[in-house]
Amino acid sequence: MINMTNWKIPLYKIYTDDEDVNLITKIIKRGSSWALGPEIEELENSIKNYVNADYCLTLNSGTSALHATLLAYGIHHDDEIIVPSFSFIATANSVLFVNAKPKFADIEEDTFGLDPQSILDNINSKTKSIMPMDYGGQGCKIFDIKKIAEDKNLILIEDGAESLGSSVNGKKIGSISDTTIFSFCGNKVLTTGEGGAITTNSQEIYEKIKLIRSHGRIDTSNYFNNPSLSQYVGLGYNWRMSTLTAALGISQLQKLDKIIKMRKENAQYLSNSLSKISQIRVPNPSAGYEHIYQMYTIRLENEKIRDDLHDFLTKKEIFSKVYFHPIHKTQFYTKFNTDNKLPVTEMIASQVLTIPLYPNMVKEEKEYLTNSIMEFFESR
Ligand SMILES: Cc1ncc(COP(=O)(O)O)c(C=O)c1O
Repeated sequence: MINMTNWKIPLYKIYTDDEDVNLITKIIKRGSSWALGPEIEELENSIKNYVNADYCLTLNSGTSALHATLLAYGIHHDDEIIVPSFSFIATANSVLFVNAKPKFADIEEDTFGLDPQSILDNINSKTKSIMPMDYGGQGCKIFDIKKIAEDKNLILIEDGAESLGSSVNGKKIGSISDTTIFSFCGNKVLTTGEGGAITTNSQEIYEKIKLIRSHGRIDTSNYFNNPSLSQYVGLGYNWRMSTLTAALGISQLQKLDKIIKMRKENAQYLSNSLSKISQIRVPNPSAGYEHIYQMYTIRLENEKIRDDLHDFLTKKEIFSKVYFHPIHKTQFYTKFNTDNKLPVTEMIASQVLTIPLYPNMVKEEKEYLTNSIMEFFESR
């Protein structure tokens, strides 16, 4: 197995500047409220305004945001949740955390998101919720899926972990579903190292997640600055984001649109070059789908060519990776689901390769990447 740390071209690089350092430094020097500081609410207000939702809560990861959301909706062991297998494992794991059953539906080829028809095929009397995922910085067919959720009276929980900042038909991800979750882990467009958030228009869900996130405790002021007794009204966890992390989130969010613009320009460069190679399909968002390129994923004709290209790029010290191998085919999930027929998921998973893209990718890096891919096809 290859494990290199000194890549000529890494898969991603974080865009950071003095603003990030200055804000963090200010809080460190403040010497107080490193937990439960005012920057947490400030970040939540900024996110909810950015996506245009009524409520936002930050958490310590996207995974705990998923877990907290399922708990808040009271999902339990009798329930089935429709999820994609073409996703990061946490999407399905969160359903198991609450002892419910992840029911894998197939994806479609336009957005690599859940296929509305496959969702319909998988709904039964136990189905409680649909949990679509927005792949790599582009929304799925969320309005078609929302219509199904409304018609069938199902809860729509969107895994927008990879797509803060993108929009469908002019509406930002985070403003469309009943509740949307985001991740700010290291490879996301807005990253705080680790972190997550939920957005919702439901005050009830907001209040529930707030309790679940922090020990089931009613906090009217900063617990650590409050000398009186606190009231604990339910079972909760410690899934809070730290103040330092929130500060990084504030300063990253201030430049998110600039970061997205840089990513889109680099994606355009890659697409212009790579679309000249007939064996490659470059990302091609449909009208109304704003792609922010959290990942730049190409499609090859088959698994053999994909794997050969991956090996070739590795030898060139260019980092590429398969996002995603289907969840239902992981060692852990094969024991839960033996009857999955997910032909599109399996086909797409055998063809995709995510290649480097980051905001401050310089011309030489882009040229080295695209020339190396051309060299691979010329040498065949
Ligand atoms: C689609 C998807 N869902 C959930 C997660 C989990 O987020 P986190 O890593 O912040 O726990 C991720 C992040 O990697 C993701 O890509």
